[in-house]
Amino acid sequence: MDDLTVVVLAAGEGKRMRSRQPKVLHELCGRPLIAYPLRIARTLADTIIVVAPPDQEALRAAAGDGVTVVEQRERLGTGHAVLQARDACGAGAILVLPGDVPLLSVETIDRLVKHHAARGAAATILTAVVDRPQGYGRVLRQGGRVIRIVEDRDATDDEKKVAEINTSVYCFDARRLWTALAEVRPNNDQGEYYLTDAIGLIARAGGRIEAVAVEDPVDALGVNDRKQLATLAAVQRARILERHMLGGVTILDPATTYIDDTVTIGTDTVIHPNVIIDVASEIGGDCVIGAGCQIRATRIADRVRLLPYCVLTESVVDDDAQLGPFCHLRPKSHVGAKAKVGNFVELKKSRLGRGSKAPHLAYIGDATVGDGVNIGAGVIFVNYDGVAKYETRVGDRAFVGSNSSVVAPITIGDDAFVAAGSVITKDVPSGALAVERSPQVMKEGWVARRRARQTSPTQKKKED
Ligand code: UD1
Ligand code: CA
Repeated sequence: MDDLTVVVLAAGEGKRMRSRQPKVLHELCGRPLIAYPLRIARTLADTIIVVAPPDQEALRAAAGDGVTVVEQRERLGTGHAVLQARDACGAGAILVLPGDVPLLSVETIDRLVKHHAARGAAATILTAVVDRPQGYGRVLRQGGRVIRIVEDRDATDDEKKVAEINTSVYCFDARRLWTALAEVRPNNDQGEYYLTDAIGLIARAGGRIEAVAVEDPVDALGVNDRKQLATLAAVQRARILERHMLGGVTILDPATTYIDDTVTIGTDTVIHPNVIIDVASEIGGDCVIGAGCQIRATRIADRVRLLPYCVLTESVVDDDAQLGPFCHLRPKSHVGAKAKVGNFVELKKSRLGRGSKAPHLAYIGDATVGDGVNIGAGVIFVNYDGVAKYETRVGDRAFVGSNSSVVAPITIGDDAFVAAGSVITKDVPSGALAVERSPQVMKEGWVARRRARQTSPTQKKKED
């Protein structure tokens, strides 16, 4: 679209959120609210301006590259907010998007912009006809034409009955907008400079006001408090699940499945109930994600099976691996292809090579484990001495017997064998057997002697 500027309004106090952070940084399905209008802005315009509260580094960071952030030092209303963007705006059409109306689609906004251009309008408003217009600005018409917008708190009882609301999305002819905003006065219930008043002023000056209605009024819902945030998140969540299902993912119970907006999933993957997948996780195709799994910022390749209740964070799982039930991958873990991580196994900052197995009850921390390794039940990689963390290396095809402790820093060579129950404190060369156990003591007939002592009163107190 030629010469279009998008202004995203994000400087409001968000009082109704009762929060220390700006409203537009609250997350909806894994993205801050501000990310939703910005996604639309990026597809439609080259010049993008965000009007932000002063000194909000986090908001600047969330806005990202290629966006001009202007500050609104005093929050004097939506009209005042748009004025702060004036110097950064181009001369063509200006599209205003609210920072707190996240469910709008690119298609709808594109339709608005095109309608505005085709009609040569001075301003075009995106409206919605809703069942419960309370709290929203009402679109007032005369003989079918839009003449002004009245805010809910300033509306008369008759005006309050109007079901057509202002979504806070508008397309303006730049010259008309700046002229009108210069005339806006804060004579309303809140004492603010309302952008909505610019519509009435443009109409009165003879400008043509067009209105385009959203197809689904749900798209126009805004977030002013945390109740609305939860309501909208539920709508967005259902849409995300629908997108994945239509894209070839089986979701057994959409009612209990939470997938962030940032997640990708390959076809023929099956997701069982009570699963949470978030923070830009990538799941491959033909995977099974068992009940109760929580997957965060993790990349899972194809044909991976997660048995129930696995917790995976900032990790990578290669093709055909099998995990769980009840395993924990802490950040920077990497499970190789065809590897197996079984129940009650925890990995942290560790790599488990191709085809390696840690089937039961183990802690693998700060370790690089080669291919085809067997880690027995109850093995602990002792990586911490109370002060610092140390690394363990285990070579290919090594065998670490059950209930061994491997005290880092340490290296176990290729094909080495650690006997069960050993506490390993010295490097084990390739191909060697390491046994660290006290010799087993055997006392033949001891049990019978003990029983005899226990039944004879004179011997009772004597120890063997
Ligand atoms: C606004 C509209 C209302 C519309 C509704 C749709 C006005 C006066 N009212 O009401 O007609 O039905 O949106 O959701 O415009 N903001 C600033 N600076 C300010 C004030 C607000 O940047 O000084 C930003 C907010 O961060 C928000 C947006 O503008 O993203 C809308 O402000 P908000 O206070 O939420 O307006 P509403 O009462 O929802
Ligand atoms: Ca709002």
